[in-house]
Amino acid sequence: MAKLKAPPEIDLERLNEIVNEHALKRWALIPLVQEVQAEFGFIPPRVVPIIANKLHLFPSEVQGVVSFYEQLYTEPRGRNIVRVCRGTACHVRGGKTILKLVKRQLELEENETSEDLEYTLETVACLGVCALSPTMVINNQVYGHMNPKKVKELFKREGES
Ligand code: FES
Repeated sequence: MAKLKAPPEIDLERLNEIVNEHALKRWALIPLVQEVQAEFGFIPPRVVPIIANKLHLFPSEVQGVVSFYEQLYTEPRGRNIVRVCRGTACHVRGGKTILKLVKRQLELEENETSEDLEYTLETVACLGVCALSPTMVINNQVYGHMNPKKVKELFKREGES
């Protein structure tokens, strides 16, 4: 699984449809960028001036909103978001090894997305379930007491036994 090298192209016609629905509605900036993200999975930086132009805003105003909210992404993300805990409780119980194995299994470094957009790998400071350490989350599913065997099972590739 290789990491994503360049963001996928977006359908500009569809982008224009979305943007035109909100033309001149400055108050609609947040719903508009949310809609763009829902459609394309992220907000490509090149759409910022297009949105700004339609809403009669400065690009810096649009960029300010996009970069302010953690839930808005300027890079494509995988269908599965894998978050490995780097907190102290997990660290002392082998969290570092778990992260290393997940990286190896996915062939991704932190904050990278796979080329097929299947996975994005992130780390978190603490998942709040320290009693289950070492832990990780895939989307909303928590996996506790992680060990090398569990990592391998979770990310078994086709053809692997
Ligand atoms: S330190 Fe990992 S869940 Fe708290």
